[in-house]
Amino acid sequence: FPVENIRNFSIVAHVDHGKSTLADRLLELTGTIDKTENNKQVLDKLQVERERGITVKAQTASLFYNCEGKQYLLNLIDTPGHVDFSYEVSRSLSACQGVLLVVDANEGIQAQTVANFFLAFEAQLSVIPVINKIDLKNADPERVENQIEKVFDIPSDECIKISAKLGTNVESVLQAVIERIPPPKVHRKNPLRALVFDSTFDQYRGVIANVALFDGVVSKGDKIVSAHTQKTYEVNEVGVLNPNEQPTHKLYAGQVGYLIAGMKNVIEAQIGDTLYLHKQPVEPLPGFKSAKPMVFAGMYPVDQSEYNNLKSAIEKLTLNDSSVTVHRDSSLALGAGWRLGFLGLLHMEVFNQRLEQEYNASVILTTPTVPYKAVLSSSKLIKARRAVQKNMIFIDQNRVMLKYLFPLNEIVVDFYDSLKSLSSGYASFDYEDAGYQTAELVKMDILLNGNTVEELVTVVHKDKAHSIGKAICERLKDSLPRQLFEIAIQAAIGSKIIARETLPIFKNIFQYGGDITRKMKLLKRQAEGKKKLRKIGNVEVPKDAFIKVLKTR
Ligand code: GTP
Repeated sequence: FPVENIRNFSIVAHVDHGKSTLADRLLELTGTIDKTENNKQVLDKLQVERERGITVKAQTASLFYNCEGKQYLLNLIDTPGHVDFSYEVSRSLSACQGVLLVVDANEGIQAQTVANFFLAFEAQLSVIPVINKIDLKNADPERVENQIEKVFDIPSDECIKISAKLGTNVESVLQAVIERIPPPKVHRKNPLRALVFDSTFDQYRGVIANVALFDGVVSKGDKIVSAHTQKTYEVNEVGVLNPNEQPTHKLYAGQVGYLIAGMKNVIEAQIGDTLYLHKQPVEPLPGFKSAKPMVFAGMYPVDQSEYNNLKSAIEKLTLNDSSVTVHRDSSLALGAGWRLGFLGLLHMEVFNQRLEQEYNASVILTTPTVPYKAVLSSSKLIKARRAVQKNMIFIDQNRVMLKYLFPLNEIVVDFYDSLKSLSSGYASFDYEDAGYQTAELVKMDILLNGNTVEELVTVVHKDKAHSIGKAICERLKDSLPRQLFEIAIQAAIGSKIIARETLPIFKNIFQYGGDITRKMKLLKRQAEGKKKLRKIGNVEVPKDAFIKVLKTR
């Protein structure tokens, strides 16, 4: 394929504005997939994506398109829309020269529309605005055109108005891709320079690296070197994604495809790495800024005998999602495990669900926390969350963009849901890291008969300590089994008790009389339960109780 007939582009949008539906139509129009009623989000291959109806992984597909007697190769990368996955978006853009910025004709510009536009703008890509869902009764494409002109400074006549669902005007999107996005700037005569921009793990074939070729050619049998590890590999297979893997003899500069070369794990197949030919070293490509985790949680196998299996599952999944950080950790109650860092709460949930669905793992995840820097020494919704307003921009008469500085721990857990329900679904939300700020935080201990429960120690804002402490004590009271003595459940800051619940004495079952087999069963169950107990002082705490308290917080 001549380079001038190649276009590499990505579709970006706010969540649910119709990226994946547009991708389906483009695949159909180019004959990449057959046109049937069943083509719904074809590129959302993961079970978690289908169940939740959202894209969490960027996907690549190569399309062939004939236009005015010329055949074009269009490499399309579908990307996720939710704020937690913007890392996927920025990575995908490094393999592209342009983007389709999809905006819902009814909802108009939303938080991730703005965030994604700036990612593309900073990467100096051509931006083609596509106003989607013009078939909707309340669609107002002219209003959205004006918003796009005002906020992004793109002339309104550059907007393409379509209905991805019905297929209306989708052909002109392909025309615009060819006319407005430049071909990649590459040199086929130079030695190979390939960027690894994503990778997946296949049980039988090892690492499958998604690559974008900036220079040169790569074929099966070539010896290649990883700039990152300096290890040499022999290429076993190269090919394009159509959208399923289709082997080819070679991959040329300007193309996007996959490569298999016997790499076995995450350390070998670093995302952002540059591959070159053996004995023909090149200057490595810039790679990627590493993702900065915002939310941390402990992860433990439900059964310790599953530790090694879970370890290998986490390793394989982090290969496909390199934004997750992993450190070994252990807890007296839950055993050996890890401390994982995620980009947000949805990201954490999706990772957990993928472990369960794709690797059959069953895990305990502790309450998420955010990073703090501690100095040792001696309104709405918004006000309650300790926010400071920074600025306010009117997008049009009905829409305003507000910027606030928030403590991260106030937004990670349920802020997004509260914002959606308070605004009846109209408000949207995006965030970026603004650095550490000083705050009045305290370390809160939870005590059982005076002994600290390490697993439940948390950092909270001084003003909220009482209500959070009270809630944890109440939950612990509900989850702990009664014992032969009374138990004081307390929340404390230093030596000061701020909340207390009392768990009354357990009455021995024999005092009630009744059926002997039932009693024996009960005793047996108690004995089994004891195996999973952890003693805190004289209080026996079953693993279940921890899980219940940690899960519902
Ligand atoms: P994420 O992958 O989660 O970011 O969403 P997305 O942007 O890929 O959106 P998706 O394609 O999944 O579409 C979201 C919803 O909008 C689906 O229910 C689609 O059927 C619907 N939709 C997409 N395009 C159109 C359209 O042109 N008209 C109408 N009426 N609905 C559409």
